[in-house]
Amino acid sequence: MKAATIVAALAGTASANLIHLPKIAARATSSSSASSASGTSSGSLPTITTKGNAFFAGDSRFYIRGVDYQPGGSSEATDPLADESTCSRDIPYFQKLGLNTIRVYTVDNSANHDKCMGLLADAGIYLALDVNSPKYSLNRAEPEVSYNSDYLQSVFATIDAFANYSNTLLFFSGNEVINSDNSTSAAPYVKATTRDMRQYIAERGYRSIPVGYSAADVSSNQYLMARYMDCGDDAMRSDFYAINNYEWCDPSSFTQSGWDTLVDMYSNYSLPLFMSEYGCITNTRKWTEAAELYKEQMTKAFSGGIAYEYSEEGNGYGIYKINGNSVSPVGNQPEWLGQELNSTSDPTNGGGYSTNGTKQDCPSQSNDWDTSPFTGSALPAQPSGIEKYFKNGAGKGPGLTGDGSQEAGSTQIATASAAAGSATATYSSGDSSSTGDSSSSGSSSSGSASSSSAANRGAVPLTLETGPLVGMAVMVVSFAMGAALL
Ligand SMILES: *[C@@H]1O[C@H](CO)[C@@H](O)[C@H](O)[C@H]1NC(C)=O
Ligand SMILES: *[C@@H]1O[C@H](CO)[C@@H](O)[C@H](O)[C@H]1NC(C)=O
Ligand SMILES: *[C@@H]1O[C@H](CO)[C@@H](O)[C@H](O)[C@H]1NC(C)=O
Repeated sequence: MKAATIVAALAGTASANLIHLPKIAARATSSSSASSASGTSSGSLPTITTKGNAFFAGDSRFYIRGVDYQPGGSSEATDPLADESTCSRDIPYFQKLGLNTIRVYTVDNSANHDKCMGLLADAGIYLALDVNSPKYSLNRAEPEVSYNSDYLQSVFATIDAFANYSNTLLFFSGNEVINSDNSTSAAPYVKATTRDMRQYIAERGYRSIPVGYSAADVSSNQYLMARYMDCGDDAMRSDFYAINNYEWCDPSSFTQSGWDTLVDMYSNYSLPLFMSEYGCITNTRKWTEAAELYKEQMTKAFSGGIAYEYSEEGNGYGIYKINGNSVSPVGNQPEWLGQELNSTSDPTNGGGYSTNGTKQDCPSQSNDWDTSPFTGSALPAQPSGIEKYFKNGAGKGPGLTGDGSQEAGSTQIATASAAAGSATATYSSGDSSSTGDSSSSGSSSSGSASSSSAANRGAVPLTLETGPLVGMAVMVVSFAMGAALL
């Protein structure tokens, strides 16, 4: 649903060719050690865990109050968390909106993020992070070829770069990879990637950072995908599911928007669920749904949502307009969103969360759900060559300018054994600096000599934009029609 993807669509479908040069040069403030991708910020927030269909910060249920954040969109494609001047410009506005979370679609996994992650933590803000980049992502047109060890090395390097920040809330394994009625054949690869990320986190000894998928607003398969990500053996099930939803168009209501039906549909779902994008712009957008999200009739199934999106990128969804260092409101958008978020406090007593949800049955093949040759709970086998990452860490991330991974695989993919995805060992104690990539700035706050110094919080910004950039013609059409497809 992002402007980004639309730009990508117009640029063609090849996906791996959309790289733009970094807009901002490296800005590390001191020694080269400052550019290590692995780090720990000085700020600290309680880490988030899952229980039943909810997130928790300690004993308190955690409700996501977020905005989607990728200033520059895809055409500029800058990692906003690698550049202190960018994140520090925007954090005061996050606070005005009353947020506790931002979602970022693309980061540079070779850059250091200590400074921005620390500033975010100081402001009480968590990060929901997509692990893909345009060059390192699944290609829905050729998912088997794009699912390979080069791809997973980049994904795992992104995990290494963020796993030790206490305010890393969760990882998205993919965003809108399935974006139409007929792209469900990519689903097994999304699920396999999710499985591999969860295994990587376990084998590397990191805390159990939740991993899940962000699904496009495609009515024919969004719920089937929810079931699919929550079916089969534990090692292949997600930690959460997220939906992009643009069905509440002001003026609207719980019933008129169909959100009541959604809550019913997900009433037996066993995983935490939230809206990873929301904010319909048909009519005047007053953000009344933002308050609705935190009422108990929603919170029994949903754990909040992420408003799309912070910056105006030419598609009409922005809340603020950014011009260099200046940030100005788009009409009354910040005021309205901020007031709605502020007007509704979190429900008390757990907001009706449930631990009674059940693992789902894998959807059967149908006109709406074609995942062949992987039917039922069968998944692609892990690409050969990834065990070494489990054992030794991913090593240096390719960043946003590497060769790309989408053509690196093969069309021949075996079916995984039943045990695939189970962590067999814990090879590391969760210190990403031991992975062999990062020479330096250290992931343990005590272990790194410079971790609290300004020097270590320098940043090496790069660029780019999220995920699957293929087949976006479908999105362009539906966007133009204002349809619910996205
Ligand atoms: C889905 O349908 C569209 C429109 O008919 C077509 O262009 C596209 O190639 C199809 N995609 C797949 C993966 O079959
Ligand atoms: C919302 O609440 C936050 C935190 O109390 C406050 O800083 C902010 O100004 C409020 N925003 C609006 C729009 O009322
Ligand atoms: C969950 O509820 C849905 C909708 O009512 C139903 O179709 C599905 O079979 C239920 N699943 C389980 C595992 O009970």
